[in-house]
Amino acid sequence: MKSLFSAILSAAALSASFTTAQAQTGERNIIRISTDNTDLVLEVGPNNRLYQTYLGPRLMFESDLHNLSWSQHAASDVSVSARGWEAYSTSGNEDFFEPALGITHSDGNMTTYLYYVDSTQKPVDGGTLTRINLRDDRYPVDVTLNYVAYPKENVIKTWSEISHREKKPVSLSQYASAMLYFNEPEYWLTEFSSDWAKEAMMSSQKLQFGKKVIDTKLGSRAAMHTHPFFEIGFDGPVEENNGKVLMGTLGWTGNFRFTFEVDNVGNLRVIPGINPYASIYQLKAGDVFTTPEFIFTLSYDGTGQGSRDLHDWARRYGLKDGQGERMTLLNNWENTGCDFNQDILAELMKEAKHLGVDMFLLDDGWFGNKYPRKDDHAGLGDWEETRDKLPGGIAALVKAADDAGVKFGIWIEPEMVNPRSELYEKHPDWVIEQPNRDTYYYRNQLVLDLSNPKVQDHVFGVVDRILTENPGVAYFKWDCNSPITNIYSPYAKDRQGQLYVDHIRGIYKVLDRVKDKYPDVPMMLCSGGGARCDYEALKYFTEFWCSDNTDPIERIYIQWGFSQFFPSKAMAAHVTNSNKSTSVKFRTDVAAMCKLGFDIGLKELQDDELAYCRKAVAEWKRLQPAVMDGDMFRLVSPYKSNHAAVEYVDKSKSSAVVFAYDLAPRFQEKLNAVKLQGLDPDKRYLVKEICLMPGSESLFPQDNKTYTGDYLMKVGIDAFTCSHNSSRIIELKSL
Ligand code: DGJ
Repeated sequence: MKSLFSAILSAAALSASFTTAQAQTGERNIIRISTDNTDLVLEVGPNNRLYQTYLGPRLMFESDLHNLSWSQHAASDVSVSARGWEAYSTSGNEDFFEPALGITHSDGNMTTYLYYVDSTQKPVDGGTLTRINLRDDRYPVDVTLNYVAYPKENVIKTWSEISHREKKPVSLSQYASAMLYFNEPEYWLTEFSSDWAKEAMMSSQKLQFGKKVIDTKLGSRAAMHTHPFFEIGFDGPVEENNGKVLMGTLGWTGNFRFTFEVDNVGNLRVIPGINPYASIYQLKAGDVFTTPEFIFTLSYDGTGQGSRDLHDWARRYGLKDGQGERMTLLNNWENTGCDFNQDILAELMKEAKHLGVDMFLLDDGWFGNKYPRKDDHAGLGDWEETRDKLPGGIAALVKAADDAGVKFGIWIEPEMVNPRSELYEKHPDWVIEQPNRDTYYYRNQLVLDLSNPKVQDHVFGVVDRILTENPGVAYFKWDCNSPITNIYSPYAKDRQGQLYVDHIRGIYKVLDRVKDKYPDVPMMLCSGGGARCDYEALKYFTEFWCSDNTDPIERIYIQWGFSQFFPSKAMAAHVTNSNKSTSVKFRTDVAAMCKLGFDIGLKELQDDELAYCRKAVAEWKRLQPAVMDGDMFRLVSPYKSNHAAVEYVDKSKSSAVVFAYDLAPRFQEKLNAVKLQGLDPDKRYLVKEICLMPGSESLFPQDNKTYTGDYLMKVGIDAFTCSHNSSRIIELKSL
């Protein structure tokens, strides 16, 4: 009986232009994409299609690549399937499981088969780019798979480009960034669910036969209910220091979708990409549909190593000004809300100086005249200073900051509009809103239609005007508080299926212009807390706001979650009055694990509390090589104990800092020593508790003593106590 495999082979052979010399001679075409620790191996099969043959720890011997087989993962029963792991599986092929690409061609045919054409490899910043060109043999459709492997960081970034030369547009119904396969005994997914004030909550589940989908349909503020990253443990649920784990994240600020499918023979496929929900994309001939980048690492020592690799990658290649320093700041949102004037702000700037931070950040509520922004009901879109509140405008605020000796930053939310605004009155057609249905609002606002180039000009103009008129403005907090409601674009007309995608691309076009014209202005990405947290947006932003929940207990969990994928210098954390049952020291210590800021009225603080905060700012600046730019070790998980501990070690291993928290220990609970990590075993370290409240003495048993790194990593330190809500910061300095 003729097998399905030989049927495929002869079908491919029919197409002379795709029958390469390789297929005729039996010569094998293996494409190796390697980091120092990981190999992703692809091979052109005998049918001239492209298959993944391996993804795992780097193989020592090149010759072993030939022992990998394109069909090794196929079902034994060929009548069910003779498939291999097609690198970018397409709809209508013989695979029967979830594809990466779905195209309806202009003649209505819904199948696509991609054959290998050629491939190239070349060095790029930090790594090697592999480009693999594939083409359908019956339709003029091209797909290019791109992979950048970063050897030192053990990170691979991958995306796809889709184009065609058909006479009429084709419809894209699926357009994943990539496809990865695994063949392991078990698959345990850790997802990061979220909501306002509840970001990055981690939970794990075992994947069984069938599909598990994590997706979002919010449009903008798109990561409000779940974040664009995940982890998969292959030896059981992910662990911090053991086991093989895949950690992946999608660089896309809009609707995303991760599909995890376990098939009939127990293989797992992972398909990351834009969520095609309500987004059948009409692609014109000659246009290239470029998918977002999927960034992943495979760690063989648990999530801790994976996080450190991602942090290194982010600081070098992922984050705006990833190598640069970050400014500490005093923000006024939690303190004043929209209730302020020029004099109040000038006083706060003096307080910022007294505190020792670098900058004062003015939040929401500074704009609108016909519809002044007194709360979230009006004014959004009218980016002119409210005259009776701020008679001297931004210029006077920049000057007041300058007089006080701090920099000045400002909040904007330029993608949005309140219906009660002059902008909406002038340009109702710039808004995403249904023409023939009742409008529903989220936070009393609507989303501007960024697929429209005129709207892009307007949004760029918001930043451009502020900076042209006030070159002294040193920082932006760019907020986005609403999902897309009432999805309909007057601009897109009959191309409504493209709105979710083109809207996000429109935002990137604006951000490109901002970055080109103002490359050195740092910006905080904010979305009603942490609903925007992806590496495409972070090409334009130096940091993101993790959550409006600044209760330090909650923040320990939130920061724990985000730290899986982002270095602390990308994560903004502010000391506020939230949860006053915790001390100012506790609140400050938690925020000091990230990019430190304050959002609190300093006049409300006791003298010793203010003195503590001032000291903390100075210490945070001193500790930057470890906390901002070093290696992070999550030592004790708040998910697994009544405590938490995180350690940061500078790259030279000459200094480290441990943040230890007692959350809610039981009465006379057994306290375990905290074993440190990442130190030089041969070095001796002076161990010292720092950041004590004025007048208090350290009760830390190992205070002011010296130990070898070996001892500290094997025996540990007694960092915990049985108190509730208490914190300790312990510094280690090599002698
Ligand atoms: C939501 C943000 O997360 C807050 O920090 C604050 O900027 C408000 N928006 C202002 O409206």
